[in-house]
Parts: sequence; C-alpha cells; structure tokens
Amino acid sequence: MARQIEHGASVIEIGAGTGAITRHITRIGHTSQLVIFEQDRRLAELLRHQLVQVRVIEGLFHNMVGSLGDLPDNLVMVSSVPFKSLSGKLHFETAAAICRILCVSPNRRLIQYSYFDSHPFVPHHSGLQWRRLSRVWANLPPATIWELRAEHSLGTSPS
Ligand SMILES: C[S@@+](CC[C@H](N)C(=O)[O-])C[C@H]1O[C@@H](n2cnc3c(N)ncnc32)[C@H](O)[C@@H]1O
Repeated sequence: MARQIEHGASVIEIGAGTGAITRHITRIGHTSQLVIFEQDRRLAELLRHQLVQVRVIEGLFHNMVGSLGDLPDNLVMVSSVPFKSLSGKLHFETAAAICRILCVSPNRRLIQYSYFDSHPFVPHHSGLQWRRLSRVWANLPPATIWELRAEHSLGTSPS
C-alpha cells in the first residue's frame, strides 16, 4: 500500500487502526504531509502517542474531512476501511465522501485493498474507474490492491 504513493504526494490515511500501514508510509518519507483518520477513540489516542510527527484526526472520515479545508491536487488517500462489512449508511457516506474528493481532479487517487479480487465498492460517479495495482499473496487471505481515480476532471457533484 505504502509503495503505491508517489514521491511528494500529500497523503490521507483512512482507518489507520493500529498504524501498521502508517508506519510504512512514514518510513518511506511521507511524514510531513500525512494526515490520518481513525474513528476508534482508543486507537486514535494510541496513534497520537506513538506517531507524534503525524496529524491524527479522530472520527468518521466523512464527518471530519471538511476540517482540512481545501485539499491539494496531488492527494493520495490510502484506505483500510472494511467496506464489505460496513453498514449500508456508513458504507454509502464514506464512499460518497471519497468519490466527491476524487471527482475534483484526475491527479487524486484512492489506494484501497480488498480480498477475493472483487473491487472494494461501487463508485458514486461513472467517471471513476478502479484499476488493479497488485496482489499480495503473503496476506491471508490474499489481498488485491486497487486504485480508484477519475479518468479526467469530473466536477464536484457525484451522480
Ligand atoms: C482493518 S482496520 C485497520 C487496519 C490498519 N491498517 C491497521 O494497521 O490496523 C480498519 C480501521 O478503520 C477504522 N474505520 C472504519 N471506518 C472508518 C471511517 N469511516 N472513518 C475512520 N476510520 C474508520 C476502524 O476503526 C478500524 O480501526
């Protein structure tokens, strides 16, 4: 997941959990422009304590992302959100927030993994396309790493 981030990108991680991916992101030098979201209070506190150089935002991504203000064009969102097991409303709101951000610029990307080779969620805009980036066979079960991005600038309102 971390290796998919290009040098110089601004990075948002959604659902940082225990910080396993976050640590890899910081190790490859994306610390200064990294913001992570975690909805679980205890995990968010732990992340703040362990990763003092990283900005941790506690809460649900779709509720909190507005607090960042304008987002940069070279944004990469790295997500561990378990879309397949989220409730309908949370699934919809999280995916819609991600799609709204991606629609603004084809330079923005979401990196997300899933299991069993099916893409993580159906985008809320037909101009957003999933692309398979790699398989991680060592994971149990094997994981597929996906990229979601706009083919070209789509405006800000999802269909
Ligand atoms: C699969 S786990 C985390 C995996 C992570 N890479 C790790 O190292 O632990 C997914 C995490 O996403 C968080 N989460 C799920 N939905 C979220 C949302 N909408 N906004 C923020 N965090 C979310 C959960 O609380 C959980 O900690």
